[in-house]
Amino acid sequence: MTEPRMVELIGKHITITDTMRAGVVAELPEIEWISDPTLRQNVTDAWAAALAISPFSRISEMKPSGNYDTRPLRHGTQADHFRSVTRMAVQIAEEMAALFPDFRYDRDLLIGGCLCHDIGKIWEFDPENVRRWNADPRANGRPSIRHPAFGLYICLAMGLPEGIAHCATAHSGEGELVQRSLENTILHQADYTFWRVADAGGQLAESDPWLDGELAAKSGAKI
Ligand SMILES: [Fe+2]
Repeated sequence: MTEPRMVELIGKHITITDTMRAGVVAELPEIEWISDPTLRQNVTDAWAAALAISPFSRISEMKPSGNYDTRPLRHGTQADHFRSVTRMAVQIAEEMAALFPDFRYDRDLLIGGCLCHDIGKIWEFDPENVRRWNADPRANGRPSIRHPAFGLYICLAMGLPEGIAHCATAHSGEGELVQRSLENTILHQADYTFWRVADAGGQLAESDPWLDGELAAKSGAKI
């Protein structure tokens, strides 16, 4: 039993409970790989709070794609993406460490960075946000804020380390403007590998029921 934690994100007050935390760990069991208990707690709480300000009750309710308007996976969820990127990144790091005696990386930071890298998708993939942006791109942009920028906000507001905030904000194209950390370089490669190999292996859907509205209608949301 962990104490409830009160936080505020985008003006919304959230009380993070153990039930919310258990839901996050059930979807992202690799959280348990983080050895530092404080970091483990903060990664869990960040996802619990992020979901609480979103229309999603679970990570797997989000469209399983790289960007809100790109083709989704035929099978699998957004949680599967985070988990797979985490496992691939750890394998890359372990392979290099086994080969090079002086190869040093921060395993906790790598795992936490991978699990949180797309946390900002709760904003970019919110069907109501997508509907607003599509209806009037000149009002706030389309999207107004991409997931790396919104993810940075969540990471910093939730007290995650600078290295994890860096993974969130610079794992994608935004990272071309800076020098990525070692852990973020591994994450970036694993992330791009995931989507490119999924595409090459025929794992992306030909049609997009999320943007076309079928699944949105099913979930009661409007796109
Ligand atoms: Fe990703």
